[in-house]
Amino acid sequence: MRKPLIAGNWKMYKTINEAVELANGAKRELLDFSEVDIVLCPPFTSLDSVYEVIMDTDIKLGAQNLYWQEEGAFTGEVSPIMLKDCGCEYVIIGHSERRKYFAETDETVNKKIKTALAVGLIPIVCVGETLKERESQKTIEVVQRQLQQGLKEIAKDTFSKIVIAYEPVWAIGTGKTATPQQAQEVHKFIRDWIEDNYSSDIAQKTRILYGGSVKPSNIEELMREEDIDGALVGGASLKVSSFVDITRNAVKIR
Ligand code: 13P
Repeated sequence: MRKPLIAGNWKMYKTINEAVELANGAKRELLDFSEVDIVLCPPFTSLDSVYEVIMDTDIKLGAQNLYWQEEGAFTGEVSPIMLKDCGCEYVIIGHSERRKYFAETDETVNKKIKTALAVGLIPIVCVGETLKERESQKTIEVVQRQLQQGLKEIAKDTFSKIVIAYEPVWAIGTGKTATPQQAQEVHKFIRDWIEDNYSSDIAQKTRILYGGSVKPSNIEELMREEDIDGALVGGASLKVSSFVDITRNAVKIR
């Protein structure tokens, strides 16, 4: 049985004070809630302060990006070692906003995943198609390419640590969630792909999250689907009440 995971991607929101307030709210409301793994992914500037808030709880810290070198003259980048140093256990890799605005490719995603795994960070690897790709029936083709190239040459023994997030680009920040059936279809494809390329055991263990306009009102129906193991939440993770409700509603049906 895969334990559900709800991760909040705070994107480029929250000053340090605001981030601490949000983390404190989540901590207060979810302190004894052990049915779901919870990960908060604040901006780099707040990682340290948020860690201070949650370090004595089961809530985990994640970053939104990393560079693939451990150190060096790479102005503006943050290394995996630095993330570990701040208390991070997770890192989001290959988010569609990074692919779209910061020229991330499957190749850079692959390097980042390998580096994250090498230092013991759990990568949350994002895949997903644009509206144009969905409308031209290319969803599976695109996700398959992202998996094949992004996850190229990842050793079997480390693969099971990876979390995958299916985030259809057209559902991000638009209020337009994929239907549970649309999401399940791609999640099932991803799990089958893992089985074909790794093993059925690894496929059964890998958590596949859905992301894209997840709200307290739609998480329950998404979680009813067999292959949806949680969510990567953007906008609704920026308020204590909606993030807490999503987390609680995620396990209502279990
Ligand atoms: P929204 O929940 O705001 O649609 O964002 C989803 C997302 O991009 C999470 O990584």
